[in-house]
Amino acid sequence: MDIVKIQQDLQKALKPYRDEMPAYDRLPENGLPRDEIVDQILQLYKREEPRWRSGHVSGAVYHGDQEYIDFQNQVYSIQSQANPLHMDVWPSTTKFEAEIVSMTAHMLSADKTEDEIVGSVSSGGTESILLAMKTYRDWARATKNITEPEMVIPSTAHVAFEKASQYFGIKLIRVPVGSDFRADVKAMEAAITPNTIVMVGSAPPFPHGIIDPIEELSEIARSRGIGFHTDACLGGFLLPWAEKLGYPVPKFDFRLKGVTSMSCDTHKYGYAAKGTSVVLYRGRELRHYQYYISTDWSGGLYLSPTLTGSRPGGLSAAAWAALVSMGEKGYIEAARRILAAAEKIKEGIRDIPELFVIGDPLFVIAFGSKELDIYAISDTMSKKGWNLNGLQNPPAIHIATTIRHSEKGVVDQFLSDLRESVNYVKTHPELQGSMTPVYGMTSNVMLRGAVDEFLRTLLDTVFEA
Ligand SMILES: Cc1ncc(COP(=O)(O)O)c(C=O)c1O
Repeated sequence: MDIVKIQQDLQKALKPYRDEMPAYDRLPENGLPRDEIVDQILQLYKREEPRWRSGHVSGAVYHGDQEYIDFQNQVYSIQSQANPLHMDVWPSTTKFEAEIVSMTAHMLSADKTEDEIVGSVSSGGTESILLAMKTYRDWARATKNITEPEMVIPSTAHVAFEKASQYFGIKLIRVPVGSDFRADVKAMEAAITPNTIVMVGSAPPFPHGIIDPIEELSEIARSRGIGFHTDACLGGFLLPWAEKLGYPVPKFDFRLKGVTSMSCDTHKYGYAAKGTSVVLYRGRELRHYQYYISTDWSGGLYLSPTLTGSRPGGLSAAAWAALVSMGEKGYIEAARRILAAAEKIKEGIRDIPELFVIGDPLFVIAFGSKELDIYAISDTMSKKGWNLNGLQNPPAIHIATTIRHSEKGVVDQFLSDLRESVNYVKTHPELQGSMTPVYGMTSNVMLRGAVDEFLRTLLDTVFEA
């Protein structure tokens, strides 16, 4: 396969509407009629909706019942003009965000520690992680005079930590996970230097969904006087309920003294519309290092808690509405359904002799194959309409179980398509090859060298009208 062919395939995957819909690379001279615009958007929506609605997508849409989406949309539409940067115009957003932070903090055991747990609302998991890492950098500079900061993360921690390292000039020490796919406590400890500002664990990590030994790691961090961040972007709104339902959930939250910050995504298992997350800190002092304050700008005093300036107050309203409408009972019931579906998926995969499940995860189920090319299986599944996440090091794919998968017949369909795909790849040896998956896409690409440059041109393609 040559690079031009890969480019063409990706173009097709990324721009399926090019030849079918009007495209605007310049402003239309006269604005289009609104009903025509809505019609165009509806056409696109209808093309995309069946796949996620029917539960063929890993993660992505975590709730997805139409009535619930209508409710979220209604809340957003009421508050679509709100911008918390203008706190005096929209104190409603301030109320929503303060309550989102407080509800999330209490869900994560804020009331089981003497310290005050505080935080703020961000635009998503990545921003929460970026903010926390910037906070530790500035905290360590101010309180310990560390000017060449380092962070110690397990190799499975989300790539957002790598992004933070690049953006904020923090040296990244990435420690390989153990054979059980959990952070290797001894190796993490050995990676600490006098410049280490923070250590990270995930509950659970994105790739294999196996919760890190946060209790041990956070205790090491505490004894060394460094920060510890639990990334619960994925699990924060599910694990507390899994624990209540009797599933084995190791401690990961503010019950652990050493945990000094957490990220927890409302827009995943919090079931809020896309675009919000919560970052939490043990104590106000730490949170102060997150804030941006300017006192001498000609535009006046400027205060901003997160990376962006203006922010979508409508999304905070929707997140608040998600939390108060679900309530504890709603979240527990959703978790019950998701975890039951996940158990069934896990068992079903284990029953396919050519496949193996990585570890014993709760709701993100990663699997590979010793004898077949797992990416070829993933490709075959995508031809059957499935959108699974490709992983590398080692080659595997995963499905993050959501409420969509708990609907009747979805898991059975998944397992039967998976069995068929395995058999198909088995009988088509020409499909075996060394492909590399792209995060968030079903496309696998076969690349040798120049990967970095290729991915840059891929992003260029995304922005072409
Ligand atoms: C464990 C974990 N952390 C962070 C993130 C990043 O979240 P977002 O895509 O909202 O930026 C994800 C996304 O899946 C995740 O699974």
